Amino acid sequence: MTVQKIALVTGAGMGIGLACAEAFARAGYMTVLADINEPKEQVAKIVAGGYRAVAYRIDVADTQAVNEMIAWIVSTYGRLDAAHNNAGIQTPQRPMAEITDDEFERTVAVDLKGVWNCMRYEILQMQKQGYGAIVNTSSAGGVVGFPGQAAYIACKHVILGLTKTAAIDYAAQGIRINAVCPGVIRTPMAEELIRRNPQLEEMFTKEIPAGRLGKSEEIADAVLWLCSPQASYINGHALVVDGGITIK
Ligand SMILES: NC(=O)c1ccc[n+]([C@@H]2O[C@H](COP(=O)([O-])OP(=O)(O)OC[C@H]3O[C@@H](n4cnc5c(N)ncnc54)[C@H](O)[C@@H]3O)[C@@H](O)[C@H]2O)c1
Repeated sequence: MTVQKIALVTGAGMGIGLACAEAFARAGYMTVLADINEPKEQVAKIVAGGYRAVAYRIDVADTQAVNEMIAWIVSTYGRLDAAHNNAGIQTPQRPMAEITDDEFERTVAVDLKGVWNCMRYEILQMQKQGYGAIVNTSSAGGVVGFPGQAAYIACKHVILGLTKTAAIDYAAQGIRINAVCPGVIRTPMAEELIRRNPQLEEMFTKEIPAGRLGKSEEIADAVLWLCSPQASYINGHALVVDGGITIK
């Protein structure tokens, strides 16, 4: 297979990021799976399927490490066509005033500064190329509130402001920057939320007009499309993929 494009996915070790990385690889991208836990086995599976992928260990909160990762991608593959800034963590579910400073700071470091770090170095490279597509993972909780998740939800809202502003800043240079806002998607993160609060699953199923939780692959379809030429006139958009939960 001729590799035409290079993609980076952060938080690619499991859940939404892994599904997105698999989708990029299947679509013909040489895909870098970046995660705080080096996703070697996940990459081995993709490669065994006949596609191209590589694992990279990164903490997206570490600015210098992100700078080095993008430099490594460019020196190894020559360019970066698509980037999905997806790594994220949740804070323990508690009312806002009970969230500790440490929990707040780590959430901001990964969920907000992590996206900031990745965008900055991706954009610097894409400016040199004159093209590129970036998708940031926000959340349905980037457009509405959610109980007990103040720090996390605040970061997901800020990601949308960051996405829209950067989209304006770089549109004329051929770079498109969008966000995907997943609803409740059945991933290890969502399973953990439900494990801590078991009545949530029934509540979600009742509240979601689609009558079910989403699949990571359904987010991957949206991310791939946002990075494709079919989305060439879409910029600064927050694409909600949530089975309709935020329209009620
Ligand atoms: N699952 C949902 O219902 C849902 C809904 C809305 C938004 N999201 C968002 O989607 C993204 C992925 O969520 P998920 O459910 O797949 O989560 P997950 O917990 O299942 O997977 C997250 C991945 O990110 C990695 N990661 C964590 N911290 C990192 C760091 N500092 N640097 C690099 N990698 C790191 C983890 O190792 C893991 O592989 C997150 O940004 C999350 O906030 C998820």
